[in-house]
Amino acid sequence: NLKNILITGGAGFIGSHICLNFLEQGFNLYIADSFLNSSKEVFNRLKNILDISNNYDVKKINVFEGDIRNYKFLENIFLEASNKNEAIDGVIHLAGLKSVFESTLDPTYYWDVNVNGSINLLKVMMANNCKTILFSSSATVYGNSGEIPFKESNLINPINPYGETKATIEKILNNIFNSDSKSWRICVLRYFNPIGAHPSGMIGENPNGTPENIFPLILQVASGLRKKLFVFGNDWPTQDGTCERDYIHVVDLAQAHIKAMQYLLKAKNCNLTLNVGKGLSTSVLDLLKTFEKVNNVKINFEFTSKRDGDIPISFADTSLSFKILNWKPKYNIEDMCK
Ligand code: NAD
Ligand code: WQD
Repeated sequence: NLKNILITGGAGFIGSHICLNFLEQGFNLYIADSFLNSSKEVFNRLKNILDISNNYDVKKINVFEGDIRNYKFLENIFLEASNKNEAIDGVIHLAGLKSVFESTLDPTYYWDVNVNGSINLLKVMMANNCKTILFSSSATVYGNSGEIPFKESNLINPINPYGETKATIEKILNNIFNSDSKSWRICVLRYFNPIGAHPSGMIGENPNGTPENIFPLILQVASGLRKKLFVFGNDWPTQDGTCERDYIHVVDLAQAHIKAMQYLLKAKNCNLTLNVGKGLSTSVLDLLKTFEKVNNVKINFEFTSKRDGDIPISFADTSLSFKILNWKPKYNIEDMCK
């Protein structure tokens, strides 16, 4: 029952870990990526990891370079797959832009890539009668929507253009499901804060340009690329005054995709929205302390003013995803930092 899966953004930080997991499980992959924020080198790395575990068939990964806003580019992938008798069974849609700050400077760019790109993908999927999709949404859609831990049923209230684009794509997916609920299988995954890397160290988070998220910044300080980390605020209403987040190991996150795709492929129809986090909150200072301890390095840091748009505490109510996916993250903060 080899299944053929299209992964948009498959070369990126999360996408590369998902690819590895799906290849290990025997899926046949089609990857669409513009390499705007990633490199083709990642596929050599994946091959190396799989060669070592003697688990790899080169024919199983088909890489296509292009932009998800280009209809012909996506259409061609579906065509090539079906010409090989490997019609795409499902799509994991990760491609897009993810910087909150950049989205405030250039909102139309974000709406164009994230929303128009997704609409384009959905049109190509419909034209090819592929109606199974896992979509990478974000905890950012909750904004400051009140009740913590965040539950999927909370009202969403994104407070930046990036979050607005994710919330809009979720709405579009809902509309599509309602228009043809007998045949669509949709799962929206709202990721919390994915960090860490595959234990081989051969793939990980290596964004082009200046990172904005805390973990790649800590890594740059640890490796000497950056002198210090600026910690945004020390008088938040939290245990130690720094913000708390729900960090999840990227390998656990990838595993949740396997479970979610298996769930979709078995379902007749469905429209699910699930949080993907660990359900625990960790402060910036605790993350730094753990990183220093398990890696035996010093991370220089300095407190600075609060960052616009930050909220003190964000963590997931994970009960629904743990139950539906029959999955639980395995790794703790120490593993993520190692
Ligand atoms: P990433 O930037 O590493 O990966 C995104 C990939 O999409 C990159 O390989 C990039 O080259 C590609 N891409 C960007 N624009 C494209 C376009 N127009 N056409 C084709 N490819 C394009 O980011 P990531 O951290 O792996 O995130 C993957 C997805 O998960 C994104 O949709 C992001 O919004 C979402 N997400 C990420 C986080 C996080 O903290 N990393 C949290 C929540 C949600
Ligand atoms: C984590 C904590 C900062 C940088 C964002 C998106 C979310 C998701 C994950 C994509 C916060 C603090 C950070 C720094 C710091 N991505 N920090 N100094 O803001 O929780 O979430 O990324 O969807 O949608 O909103 O993650 O890694 O930026 O910050 O002190 O230089 O680290 O204040 O408390 P965030 P982050």
